[in-house]
Amino acid sequence: QNSTANKLIELHEQAAKLYHHILVNTQAGKQALNYLQQRGLSSDIISQFNIGFAPQQRLLSPFFKEKGIDYQRLRQSGLFIEDQEGKLRDRFFDRVMFPIKNPQGKIIAFSGRLLSTENTEMPKYLNSPETEIFNKRRVLFNFDVARKSARKEQKMILFEGFMDVIAAYRAGVTNGIASMGTSLTEEQVNMIERVTSQLDVCYDGDAAGQNAIRRALDLIATQSNRLQLGVIAMPAGVDPDEYLQQNGAPSFKQMLVDAAETPVAFTLHFLRQDLNLNNEADQLNYLNSALKVIAQVKTPLEQDVYLNQLVNEFQLDKESLQAQMQQIIRQTA
Ligand code: GTP
Ligand code: MN
Ligand code: MN
Ligand code: MN
Ligand code: MN
Repeated sequence: QNSTANKLIELHEQAAKLYHHILVNTQAGKQALNYLQQRGLSSDIISQFNIGFAPQQRLLSPFFKEKGIDYQRLRQSGLFIEDQEGKLRDRFFDRVMFPIKNPQGKIIAFSGRLLSTENTEMPKYLNSPETEIFNKRRVLFNFDVARKSARKEQKMILFEGFMDVIAAYRAGVTNGIASMGTSLTEEQVNMIERVTSQLDVCYDGDAAGQNAIRRALDLIATQSNRLQLGVIAMPAGVDPDEYLQQNGAPSFKQMLVDAAETPVAFTLHFLRQDLNLNNEADQLNYLNSALKVIAQVKTPLEQDVYLNQLVNEFQLDKESLQAQMQQIIRQTA
């Protein structure tokens, strides 16, 4: 294998070990450890995800220098920032450190979270820059573990954040993955469809999350004709990690295992959420946009299920709904 890559991975493995040691065994990690415990993370979970802490006092530059690691290697690693004189300083400090792994389970990057986002302009999460071993378009958090679970369950769950993947794991659901804080990419869809046939999307219950679900569904639908999709909708205003905190593991687990709806059902809920369906104008508006969505459904049976729902809910004549839908299909053809 490529030896530069292996050496860079080795640096990351050593850094992760050191960050983890600081978190669990030292005074410098005390506050961060309290923070994680407060968020419900046990020592087992902290070890499982190899979570660490980068203290205020810079740690890695002296550590690697003492080991005589080559300057160019350190520069390539992304773990340092170069100052004007070419001196390397730790990129990460005063952050909880989440190792990011490749599909083989080797550490190739970090994401660091601030303990508090009050009184700071700094980003809540800071990721490693792109390096020879880290291309964030091709990385999914926890993918190395999730793909093994997916072999049995034939399913993965896509979350927005690392803490959501960890929350699922705490509830016994180990097939969770997350992209690196950006929208899902084509490369990630390809990775996923190689190892599972079903993907449920479980994003935050806020407007940003709902819009991100729609973008993810669109991307997956155009990118893959193999993946079966589901949506697990969070209640308004909570993300999956908060849901676990508020409702407990059994309820959260049940949600993750049982509550997926079809993309069409999700979209119909989404379309009606800000409308008052007792108002006729809103009702017509909803029916028209719902028919547009239903018109695109590929299987006649599924199409019929949703049409019948409209017939029943709004006491309508099915033939007029079908006629309206045909009109929409002709207009958009
Ligand atoms: P917590 O506040 O720790 O529970 O994080 P979260 O996972 O709920 O974060 P949020 O929903 O705000 O964002 C989802 C994901 O986006 C995170 O897991 C990060 O990967 C990413 N993200 C959030 N904030 C930032 C940021 O400031 N910079 C970068 N690069 N990524 C971020
Ligand atoms: Mn946020
Ligand atoms: Mn969010
Ligand atoms: Mn969130
Ligand atoms: Mn959160």
